Amino acid sequence: MKMLTEAFNDVAARLLAHHENDTTDQTAEITTLSTEYYLDADLWRREVDLIFKRLPIMLGFSCELKETGAYKAMTVVETPVILMRGSDGKARAFLNVCIHRGTLLKPDGKGECRRLVCPYHAWTYDDKGALVGIADAQKFGDYDKTGRGLTELPCEERAGMIWVVLTPGLPLDLESYLGEMLRELEWLEIDTWSIYEQRRLDCANWKAAHDGYVDGYHIEFLHANTIATFSKGDVNTFDAFGPHQRIGFANQDIAKLKKIPRADWVPNDGYTFVRTIFPHVSLAVTKGGGGLISQLFPGPTPDTSYTIQSHIYAHLPQTDEERALADASVEMIYGAVRDEDYAMVSGIQRGMESGAIKEVVFGRNEMGNRRLHDWIKYYSQKAPDPAQRPNP
Ligand code: FES
Ligand SMILES: [Fe+2]
Repeated sequence: MKMLTEAFNDVAARLLAHHENDTTDQTAEITTLSTEYYLDADLWRREVDLIFKRLPIMLGFSCELKETGAYKAMTVVETPVILMRGSDGKARAFLNVCIHRGTLLKPDGKGECRRLVCPYHAWTYDDKGALVGIADAQKFGDYDKTGRGLTELPCEERAGMIWVVLTPGLPLDLESYLGEMLRELEWLEIDTWSIYEQRRLDCANWKAAHDGYVDGYHIEFLHANTIATFSKGDVNTFDAFGPHQRIGFANQDIAKLKKIPRADWVPNDGYTFVRTIFPHVSLAVTKGGGGLISQLFPGPTPDTSYTIQSHIYAHLPQTDEERALADASVEMIYGAVRDEDYAMVSGIQRGMESGAIKEVVFGRNEMGNRRLHDWIKYYSQKAPDPAQRPNP
């Protein structure tokens, strides 16, 4: 805990210095990416198959599955998934597919049930996915239920979030995948938070949408009347945790840290963190407060994606006044992403498809984007060689 506070103070000191010197963290050189990288359907297929279907992805919050029998069904990159809290308290993930004839057991959405009963012929599965009932068994015939059940997916609940690998049988080791980032996520205590509001946003290509979450360069231009009212633009720190990032954004009031002795600095006072978990989560949250957690998923085609925005708080608003404040914050953030960030990305998609440019350029200040794409390229190879991992 002390060590984390020290690490955050180091970031604050870097941000303060950047603010005073009109600098920001930088890569060694300007880089370019071909527009085909964003448009190519084969590449997109590899990203879906090798990244989204093989790496741990975050599919839910502990608070979405509070009680025994609570479930959440969703379709993620073509895969029907159901998360469910068992009577032993464990969160599990299954393919949401009946083994009789393949019916989807639950429509996408959340609910609660003791057993999963297929809507077609009423085969029944218990809270651990085991097949426990066959309707009209005497007429169906002698079918051995032993060892049969739903296909379970690797699933781990850590730091208040439920992580799943969409391919059965693949290893899931969050300790090694998240590394030190897991310590920061656990420190936030998201497992004690509650969702105030959840919304869906549609957008264009997932990589183009993702670019906006790691880019501090655009804040004062695109978000002049929204995010830039509290956050400065282009005054950033970029710290890598393997493929995951912790990006520091100086707040408009960062200069106040000069007047406060470092020993009295408080995490997130004068600056904000956006943490990204590869390949698809962005957390713009503070300990004790909460904030916005976004899950970004590729859509059914290369030019589509969608985002689940969870406005998740350490303490839900209790009074009308608190609710009004929370509603205003939700609307401001939702509007900034929909009408500012994602409106730009939809334009970018059309701009790239027009063939007007063959490549895009990332400045030395766009370090988060450079890292993001290095890791996407790394993981979308058939068998990535650990020795070739991008440099932190
Ligand atoms: S398909 Fe599920 S019971 Fe028949
Ligand atoms: Fe933005």
